[in-house]
Amino acid sequence: MLNIIIFGPPGSGKGTQSAFLVEKYNLQHLSTGDMLRQEIADNTELGKSVKLIMESGKLVSDDVVIKMIGNRIAQKPANTQGFIFDGFPRTVQQAQALDNLLQTQNLKIAAVLLLQVSEEAIIERLLLRAKAQGRTDDTPEIIKARLKEYHDKTAPVAEYYTQQNKAHYIGGNKSINVISKEIFDIIDNAL
Ligand code: AP5
Ligand code: MG
Repeated sequence: MLNIIIFGPPGSGKGTQSAFLVEKYNLQHLSTGDMLRQEIADNTELGKSVKLIMESGKLVSDDVVIKMIGNRIAQKPANTQGFIFDGFPRTVQQAQALDNLLQTQNLKIAAVLLLQVSEEAIIERLLLRAKAQGRTDDTPEIIKARLKEYHDKTAPVAEYYTQQNKAHYIGGNKSINVISKEIFDIIDNAL
């Protein structure tokens, strides 16, 4: 099994690059952001409980996302070649929980891809996406709050994986195709 984490600030290209990885390596895409937006769209109890938090740009609680990911790992489809974790883990506590969840299934993380993108590019991309897709958290004020959460709580997770020798840094200001190629090379080398 090939289990990969794609990591980076809002708008760094996690979702975009995940789509290429899913196709090339037959992985299952686990995006906690997408799962939470689906819960909101379905108006579930969970969706109702996280809606305001997500609209403020803050992280939802570790317990909620760890439980969601735990369920998906436990229900792994037989034919999948591995998982791509997108937007998870986002705190050191989530990273530790993920290691424990994987361990119960005799699995581990093969590589962590860290996309590095300048703040100007992030803001430009997300404001452009707001026009195209209308994601409610893509407004200047909420983008600022999301970036703050990233710097305060998520950035330290990179160190967790550096210590495990799994971190691969990728300059994310390049074109989408150039970045994909770099990512494929990293994974092919890690295999
Ligand atoms: P989440 O959905 O994970 O959002 P995010 O991390 O803010 O990231 P985005 O999805 O905005 O960006 P992306 O990196 O996927 O970039 P994309 O490929 O789309 O989380 C949303 C919220 O959910 C959080 O704020 C939190 O409340 C909650 N949440 C989720 N997970 C959580 C967790 N684990 N713990 C707690 N709370 C959690 O690209 C962006 C745009 O740029 C696109 O339009 C794309 O076409 C374009 N683009 C991509 N690459 C390039 C490139 N190389 N050049 C030019 N444009 C590009
Ligand atoms: Mg995304």
